[in-house]
Amino acid sequence: MTEPASRPINPLFGPNRLKIGIFGTNGKGSAQTLLSENYRPTWENVIETSRIADKAGYEAIVAYARWKGYIPGRIDHPAGIILDPFTYAAGVAQATSYPAIFATSHAPTIHPIAAAKQCATIDIISGGRLVLNVVAGWNKPELEMFGAALREHTDRYEHLAEWLEILQRLWTENDEFDHDGRFFKVVRGMSMPKPVQRPGPPIMSAGGSDTGRRFACAHADVCFLLLHSEDPTDWARQIGAYKQFARDEFGREVQVWTYAPMVQRDTMREAQAYLQHYAVDHQDRESVDGWIAGNAATAKGMSQETLEKLRNHFAAGGGGNQLVGTADHIADRLQQLSDAGLDGILFTWVDFLDGMSRFNRDVLPALEARGLRKPFAGGGRQAA
Ligand SMILES: Cc1cc2nc3c(=O)[nH]c(=O)nc-3n(C[C@H](O)[C@H](O)[C@H](O)COP(=O)(O)O)c2cc1C
Repeated sequence: MTEPASRPINPLFGPNRLKIGIFGTNGKGSAQTLLSENYRPTWENVIETSRIADKAGYEAIVAYARWKGYIPGRIDHPAGIILDPFTYAAGVAQATSYPAIFATSHAPTIHPIAAAKQCATIDIISGGRLVLNVVAGWNKPELEMFGAALREHTDRYEHLAEWLEILQRLWTENDEFDHDGRFFKVVRGMSMPKPVQRPGPPIMSAGGSDTGRRFACAHADVCFLLLHSEDPTDWARQIGAYKQFARDEFGREVQVWTYAPMVQRDTMREAQAYLQHYAVDHQDRESVDGWIAGNAATAKGMSQETLEKLRNHFAAGGGGNQLVGTADHIADRLQQLSDAGLDGILFTWVDFLDGMSRFNRDVLPALEARGLRKPFAGGGRQAA
């Protein structure tokens, strides 16, 4: 029998209609630009961005997992300078009191027994605020470093499902157990201490393919979706279909989130000009080339040609939708996303400190005025 969930501290399950967070401050964020103001993951920057998010009541701080940049042989390139998401999450947990902290795990690179204990430890440090983003891996050069196979696409998700099953048993079972599966053999497995959250930290998944969606709907609490259109009617259809699929196929309720690069300026023209400046005029072309080559080789569903067309979009920070414009425009778009059924959204900026300060000053109050969020009155557990 499944234990009832108990996650009283985790703000992922809090009352705000539209939850917000930051993505990728353990690396350079998502933009692929040569501009010098592009964020760098110094520990000072990590802590400053995390504390700003904490003080403003953001629900999520999400670290990504990347072992290598995109340009072969360029080990000093910023796209490959990425803090380990687990140790990052532990440090950020200690420095904050409110947001959920997301660590990301590449299943082919870490054994579930090691991951289970790391997660339990971070959940204890954070007082029950860890979320685990589970990824199957898609970037061949980084998996090759481990001697780990980049499996055929369906097998990647079968491996991930078995990996997650072992992890969740280690979080919940009070007796030793054996596991003899297709990918793993565990003899008298156990893990102590258990995480604070019951039956364990929530799971995030961001698979984009049909197989990825099926995996996310079966296993994740927070599913990431890239919206394929700029039309709010399409958003409602895409998000509604996703949630319905989880209900119909697995009898589960899932949250649907997305992520978006943001440029906020006083006028639309200034915002568009800055987007052009960082993502086109100062695009890190070499890095985008490497990214496209890696995705074309391994990701499902996108041809080399489509990826080429999307080059400027990737350079801007990827994501389905960009939030580019005035504070009012951005608040309008966020309202439309929420009305379409979106539960949460992660933001990335070229310069996180500048972006968060503009957003907190101008957009947050607008979201509160629209009833999408309540003014933040503190909460969570005391940070040390
Ligand atoms: C918000 C978000 C975060 C992601 N984080 C990571 C990550 O940290 N590491 C990684 O290798 N892939 C990451 N991905 C990629 C996905 O896990 C997935 O591999 C990709 O979307 C391709 O989908 P597919 O595996 O279903 O083909 C992320 C995707 C999104 C949308």
